[in-house]
Amino acid sequence: MSTSHPVITIDGPAASGKSSIARIVARRLGFTYVNTGNMYRAMTWAVLQAGVDPQDADAVRTAAAGIVIDSPVVEGKTQVCVVGHTLSDGELNSDPVNRAVSFIARVPEVRERLVADQRALIAIGPLVMEGRDIGSVVFPDSPHKIYVDASEEVRASRRSAQGHADQVAERDRLDKQRKASPLVVPDGAIVIDNSHITLEQAVEQVLAALKLS
Ligand code: CDP
Ligand code: CDP
Repeated sequence: MSTSHPVITIDGPAASGKSSIARIVARRLGFTYVNTGNMYRAMTWAVLQAGVDPQDADAVRTAAAGIVIDSPVVEGKTQVCVVGHTLSDGELNSDPVNRAVSFIARVPEVRERLVADQRALIAIGPLVMEGRDIGSVVFPDSPHKIYVDASEEVRASRRSAQGHADQVAERDRLDKQRKASPLVVPDGAIVIDNSHITLEQAVEQVLAALKLS
């Protein structure tokens, strides 16, 4: 695996603040921001479009084998495209996708495909990549690992303030208990609990924790 460019890995549970923090850190450093959750969401959207039951792992495996997710960079962050269609935030965060995504993400073959795509993005240049297994599986050798946490109550209320009906506790349970690359605090990661601090304070803590030369 090439680590020719630095990769800041940011992992954590649902609605902990990962995307907001990663986006700002990437902008301040001039790195490209990669939201890997959107890659799993795009795969889920495409599997649902194909009429497949998300809990039928064999059917998901077969359908996913024919789905290619492209990740072009637009204004410093990767988009997700399925056969030329760039998915909107509304499509990626729809209720059906929220409900199904953890079932799609627990299929090992889906993960292998997307992890390979994620590693290939290093060719773009320095990255801030966030998800669930970035510091533990995708770039385990990165010296720049952050784990963002927040209490379950704070996370549920942040997500509902965004207007999403999202069962964050249920997704966490599935993401932590699955066999393939469960959500863990990666070895060497600095844990930042941002339950009771502002987004700006969380960003400052991340930037202070990183030892970028
Ligand atoms: O933004 P939020 O934390 O709610 O979720 P996300 O990062 O968009 O990820 C959606 C789902 O994709 C997660 O609940 C995981 O099931 C899966 N995921 C994963 O398995 N591995 C990743 N690196 C990123 C997301
Ligand atoms: O990516 P993830 O699902 O982990 O979380 P997010 O979408 O970045 O954050 C969920 C919401 O919490 C957003 O509206 C953030 O602005 C907000 N947030 C906050 O109010 N205070 C923080 N310290 C971090 C995030």
